[in-house]
Amino acid sequence: MFKNTLLKALETAGTKIRSFDETDFKISSKEGINNLVTEVDHAAEEVIIATIKESFPDHHILSEECGDLVQDSQYKWIIDPIDGTVNFANRIPICCVSIGLEHNGKMILGGVFNPFLNELFLAERGQGATLNDKKISVSTKTSVEAACLVTGFPYTYLDEPNGPLEVFGRFIRKGVPVRRLGSAAIDLAWVACGRFDGFFEHKLQAWDSAAGFLLVEEAGGKVTNMKGEPYSPYEHGIIASNGTIHDELIQWVKGEIPQQS
Ligand code: IPD
Ligand code: CA
Ligand code: CA
Repeated sequence: MFKNTLLKALETAGTKIRSFDETDFKISSKEGINNLVTEVDHAAEEVIIATIKESFPDHHILSEECGDLVQDSQYKWIIDPIDGTVNFANRIPICCVSIGLEHNGKMILGGVFNPFLNELFLAERGQGATLNDKKISVSTKTSVEAACLVTGFPYTYLDEPNGPLEVFGRFIRKGVPVRRLGSAAIDLAWVACGRFDGFFEHKLQAWDSAAGFLLVEEAGGKVTNMKGEPYSPYEHGIIASNGTIHDELIQWVKGEIPQQS
């Protein structure tokens, strides 16, 4: 029942997003000039919430553009109507709808749908993860130096020790490929299906990672905060990997790997 609602919400939002393919849409800035929101984010959010409310009017909803619709419920839907809005606004087809369902504080269901590539990633706690109905699993790489990684950067510069640029530079100086796709939910989904071996980002919000982190765990990978502690979508820093390289990846992010001059 939950899964049907999730699938319907992802599909309806995807169709809404694609309906703007040939149409102009309004783009505005949130805080800072490059943190964008479009009328399509709002339109997709509206159909997702309507779909959820149709079946579960009493469930709590947390969604990026409309905020917290608090209800006294054990269930909470965590929604990013478009993750990768800057890509979407530039018609770069790397963006998705991301929806996670939490039960008593535990993520039990997550879906990430890229309507441009027609890729639907789904995870159910204890049931594994799929991409377009086929089981997926994380990669088998065994070292960070051999890995292909992905990261993201916040909209405003984070000036702190071991901040995003410093950590990024650490990998680039050693020739480790680090991609930047612009959608954290897709970054996580692509770790889950083995395209990337690891992902790290300093400042995410719950809606960016709620669905993706379950995908990684259910595909056999590992997700923690930047200190290596169990991950919660309510904290900002995240490290996700195939599991095998996880401890090493944490060391790199912390700056504990000796640097070549
Ligand atoms: C953003 C994307 C991006 C990440 C940013 C997020 P949005 O979400 O996930 O990859 O680096 O931190 O805010 O704004 O496109 O929904
Ligand atoms: Ca997002
Ligand atoms: Ca968004």
